Amino acid sequence: MIDLSPLEAELAGKSPMAILKRALASFDNIALSFSGAEDVALVDMAARIKPGLQVITLDTGRLHPETYRFIEEVREKYPIALDILSPDPARLEPLVREKGLFSFYRDGHTECCGIRKVEPLRRRLATLQAWITGQRRDQNPTRQDLAEVERDAAFSTPEHPLIKFNPLINWTSAQVWDYIEAYQVPVNELHRRGYVSIGCEPCTRAILPHQHERAGRWWWENSAKKECGLHAGNLNSRPTT
Ligand code: ADX
Ligand code: SF4
Repeated sequence: MIDLSPLEAELAGKSPMAILKRALASFDNIALSFSGAEDVALVDMAARIKPGLQVITLDTGRLHPETYRFIEEVREKYPIALDILSPDPARLEPLVREKGLFSFYRDGHTECCGIRKVEPLRRRLATLQAWITGQRRDQNPTRQDLAEVERDAAFSTPEHPLIKFNPLINWTSAQVWDYIEAYQVPVNELHRRGYVSIGCEPCTRAILPHQHERAGRWWWENSAKKECGLHAGNLNSRPTT
């Protein structure tokens, strides 16, 4: 078991750049996960620190056309090795055959996210020592206890411990957007149309002024369940009513 306490203490309260630099210096086999939304700020920062770094994005097959175009724009602009991950057809086809294309509105999002996001991510993470996410504490009640660095509670196994860095946790949404403007970072067109947190097209909608940013994600479900499994460790100590 790796003792992360010295690294935790060193990175507590640090800036995104400082956390990223330490993460990229500590692990060679590390990837940044990019969702196609405002976490592009991290791609911009990381590409300055380590040109050629591995970036992974999950192509669920259900993203907005704007998100696909944005992912391509990011791929062309930055010196990154972008790996676009797809679901396993052997799992996806039976789901769609048996339950159709919108089963999540009836059954909840866990099954579909499990096949389209979690399983492809799990396969890729099994090849890595560490990964970097764009989660922030201010995104959701489930994210308030996040740490700058942690042992990944969802994807570690006894044989393969996985470290997870969250460089944006101490930033607010406003700080991320200040960075995007200051450094002229490209943005997903959907942000200009009232979308704040962006996921798959059928499970994301624009929000009204002053609504919480994740109110547009899986809006038919309770806010305590608004994790798709990528960050399932966030739910461990929380009620899921
Ligand atoms: S989610 O769990 O609700 O979908 P969210 O959209 O808040 O996650 O994004 C938080 C972080 O999870 C992102 O910054 C990114 O690191 C990772 N992530 C989310 N969706 C994807 C995706 N489609 N591909 C790669 N990483 C993702
Ligand atoms: Fe499926 Fe919606 Fe999850 Fe995308 S967000 S994988 S469409 S349930």
